[in-house]
Amino acid sequence: MTTTEACAPADALLSTRNLNVSYPGQGWRAPRTEVLHDVSLDIRPGETLGLVGESGSGKTTIGRAILGLAPVASGTVSFDGERIDHAGRARRRQLSRDIQVIFQDPYTSLNPSRTVGDTLAEPLLGHGAGTKEARLRVGDLLARVRLPADAAARLPREFSGGQRQRVAIARALALRPRLIICDEPVSARTAPPQRGRASARQCGTATAGAVTRRGMPDRRLWKAVGLFGLGFSVFGAYE
Ligand SMILES: Nc1ncnc2c1ncn2[C@@H]1O[C@H](COP(=O)(O)OP(=O)(O)OP(=O)(O)O)[C@@H](O)[C@H]1O
Ligand SMILES: [Mg+2]
Repeated sequence: MTTTEACAPADALLSTRNLNVSYPGQGWRAPRTEVLHDVSLDIRPGETLGLVGESGSGKTTIGRAILGLAPVASGTVSFDGERIDHAGRARRRQLSRDIQVIFQDPYTSLNPSRTVGDTLAEPLLGHGAGTKEARLRVGDLLARVRLPADAAARLPREFSGGQRQRVAIARALALRPRLIICDEPVSARTAPPQRGRASARQCGTATAGAVTRRGMPDRRLWKAVGLFGLGFSVFGAYE
């Protein structure tokens, strides 16, 4: 995946510049596989950026590079003006409050042996909330993604795939992050959690959506990226 752009705007929440990611080749002296070549993008507060591309073109890798989970060979990732492409573990942990992720597969991203309430409370308690405050907030989060309040006492296996994905969305919203990276977040969803999305906007969140043609989150995004044509690695922003 390749893009080019000169300099980052001052008001960008997230920027990448000339980002290059390559993975080691398989076998003795095998050349590295370059996945991202000079990728530059910007997301301002309140903006949504969709990435569309063929399978294997590097959409997930961009998200992983932003999260510090992919090997950045060169280039920069900046969040709120701070370089984070080589942030250490302690800084990454702090950043996890501001940068959240929703993965495609709710089966693997939720702990099967923890109740939904515990899953949602964990980040809150880990970032200093009291037990009572966390319980209230869990109820609020469940309502936002249109799950019943008694969902807190149930295990992930007691929900449909779409409901589980809403739990994952609620978890991502729990700490009121400033940026959410969504990797095909709606492919397992039953009904659109409109309020969840609205909430993300209300708290000034920018959403980076990594989606394929099959996993379009809604018509507006489709319209924006559709202008650039199908089958290519393109970026489309709206709002
Ligand atoms: N850990 C890894 N080691 C080696 N190669 C990898 C690794 N992760 C991804 N790749 C390669 O990087 C390329 C981009 O993968 P990526 O998962 O970013 O694609 P994608 O655009 O998200 O695809 P999809 O639409 O299928 O999810 C692929 O060719 C893939 O094989
Ligand atoms: Mg992917």
